[in-house]
Amino acid sequence: MPRVLVVGSGGREHALARALARSPQQPEVLATPGGPGMARDGFEGLGISVGNLNGIVAAAKERRVDLVVVGPEAPLVEGLVDMLGEAGIRAFGPTAAAARIEGSKAYAKQLMRDVGVPTASYMVFRSREECLAQISCASYPAVLKADVLAAGKGVIICQTEIEARAAVDVFFSERRFGITTVVLEEFLHGEELSLFALCDGAHAVPMTPAQDYKRIFDADRGPNTGGMGSYSPVPGIDDDLVRDITATVHQPIVDELRSRGTPFHGVLYAGLMLTPTGAKVLEFNARFGDPETQAILPRLRSDALDLLDRSARFSGLADASIDWTGDWAVTVVLASRGYPESSSSGDVIEGLDAAEAMGAEVTHAGTAEEDGQVVTAGGRVLNVTALGTSPAEARERAYAAAREIRFEGMQMRTDIAARAVERVGA
Ligand code: AMP
Ligand code: GLY
Repeated sequence: MPRVLVVGSGGREHALARALARSPQQPEVLATPGGPGMARDGFEGLGISVGNLNGIVAAAKERRVDLVVVGPEAPLVEGLVDMLGEAGIRAFGPTAAAARIEGSKAYAKQLMRDVGVPTASYMVFRSREECLAQISCASYPAVLKADVLAAGKGVIICQTEIEARAAVDVFFSERRFGITTVVLEEFLHGEELSLFALCDGAHAVPMTPAQDYKRIFDADRGPNTGGMGSYSPVPGIDDDLVRDITATVHQPIVDELRSRGTPFHGVLYAGLMLTPTGAKVLEFNARFGDPETQAILPRLRSDALDLLDRSARFSGLADASIDWTGDWAVTVVLASRGYPESSSSGDVIEGLDAAEAMGAEVTHAGTAEEDGQVVTAGGRVLNVTALGTSPAEARERAYAAAREIRFEGMQMRTDIAARAVERVGA
């Protein structure tokens, strides 16, 4: 029986652990650090934090793990997959050199420019003065981005030059994201799409499309978050379009990184804007999206363990295809009071069993166990996913289950997948 170790503790990792456990190979699934949700499902948590790379390598060796699946970006950018490789342990995810596509927006933009991947035009600034000099000639709205990992929060959309000047202070005076260079980007109009491809160093094999909701409030108001909900598939994004986008976006990057001697393995996540002149890349990530993964993986018909294991082997996906059920999936994120600026913890969560009894999948994003009770422990607390034969059915089921759950200060968007329902009908 193969043994798999999932690195992480969020809703994405919980969904990955469940998908791996459904493999016909019947793997034993461990997690580190893991969490109360994974423990409730019987996935042993090793408790080593994602920042303790040496500890994770040692545990993977000691437990004779066959495959390590890395969820979050930070350990990838810091080289966990390189270290596991040196220790002779197979891992799903890119090396530090390949993960740079997420770690540095300036590097990713240059890479896209080099290979002709469609994206917004941009400039990079190293100082406040350089940046201020350019924003008076920029056209608005414009976008300013910190060149660091900022969990989706380091992006400021500026409607006017005055807002851009205030944003420059956030980056260069307040140093909210530390010492960083700043990217100024053309604002792209359109609808967003997340398209992940599994990559084996040579091939990019697209997964099913998903839509993410980044803003905290309904109707896309309020600040950006890590993601407040998602659904999959996406109306209007058919197999031909997915193939086209993969051929113009993911595959050229995989080819280029291979030729540079830093082959990309793992998930290449393209955050796209569907503009009137075609799909353009907003950002690349080097790992599964959160919460898109929670909506995607319950629809996966193929063997997740086999796919992730093949991605870790050079050219392992050569003849692979990925099969999906015809269901729709909707994921609603339940966040704690104060998110995204802050978060609260220690509030008792009620109704988890009732939500699952309604047929929803509840994954834990930020929870802890105190005195035998599950309590909040982070900004995004829980994800509630439901399947249906139509977007309307999946959406109704997800919200019916989510309404069973209660904790002090709970925040939830009420319009997740409403767009899909409008387009497809009930
Ligand atoms: P990023 O982390 O670069 O994906 O940016 C986070 C979010 O900011 C995206 O999901 C978009 O909603 C928005 N965004 C980023 N770049 C642009 C852009 N060039 N035009 C319009 N919106 C953008
Ligand atoms: N859902 C956005 C992200 O995972 O970056």
